[in-house]
Amino acid sequence: MNTVKTIRELRAAVALARAEGKQIGFVPTMGNLHAGHVALVEKAAQRADFVVASIFVNPLQFGPSEDLGSYPRTLVADQEKLLEAGCHLLFHPEVDEMYPDGMASQTRVSVQGVSEGLCGASRPGHFDGVATVVTKLFNLVQPDLAVFGQKDFQQLAVIRTLVRDLNMPIQIIGEPTIRAEDGLALSSRNGYLNAEQRAAAPILYRSLQQIATALGAGEQDFASLIEAARQQLLSAGLRPDYLEIRETNSLRPATATDRQLVILVAAFLGGTRLIDNLALDLDATA
Ligand code: PAF
Repeated sequence: MNTVKTIRELRAAVALARAEGKQIGFVPTMGNLHAGHVALVEKAAQRADFVVASIFVNPLQFGPSEDLGSYPRTLVADQEKLLEAGCHLLFHPEVDEMYPDGMASQTRVSVQGVSEGLCGASRPGHFDGVATVVTKLFNLVQPDLAVFGQKDFQQLAVIRTLVRDLNMPIQIIGEPTIRAEDGLALSSRNGYLNAEQRAAAPILYRSLQQIATALGAGEQDFASLIEAARQQLLSAGLRPDYLEIRETNSLRPATATDRQLVILVAAFLGGTRLIDNLALDLDATA
């Protein structure tokens, strides 16, 4: 696996693979890779002949009081995992390479609708930052397909909308969330949790499962389900940011007639903000 830091080297390496008739798969990441990322790269390797990954901690998607400075940077360990997972080329640019004129004057991409509410409300500008860097990376790599985790459910919806609205010829593949044995969704931010917080964290997924079970059994009083789960999170020492039931495809607030539902949660454990979600198809459970 080759690691390149410049756009020029990236374009040259991808052009070579393309000239050899290879299908290009792409997995954008911010590094500090775990088994969830490895699954994305493995999926790309199954579906494409030449796999490109990127590691770029994108300042444009962090708010002023967020963890940009402390976000874990673990390049050497990441390179080993990427190689083992079947990655051929790693793009690891500096901030100046991606934003040579600084970020203030950077053209931005703003996806309407699905960016609003949920993480979009709690993290103003976050999805513009994601949509902008992903658009740039897509233009640089020009992949045939790109793989993203379903753990970032709203982000995946933003990227699917972006690709559709801007007519990008890229297939977007969403991969299921990888979880620890106790149900906690794998995340680079889990590393911020102390032992006590880590022990409390699985309540997040358990709450989603309880709501899903009730919905599957025909419960339609969404507000009561949400309130009970919120109280459960608070009792376990978590501070819910949002907990909502939405329609899976549009991400609009769910109604009693919707059959495809997704329950989405974000909560703070100490200073660490964790997110998770659980999608269910009521027609499949009926
Ligand atoms: O999910 C992430 O790691 C990031 O938001 C992404 C898609 C790599 C864009 O910076």
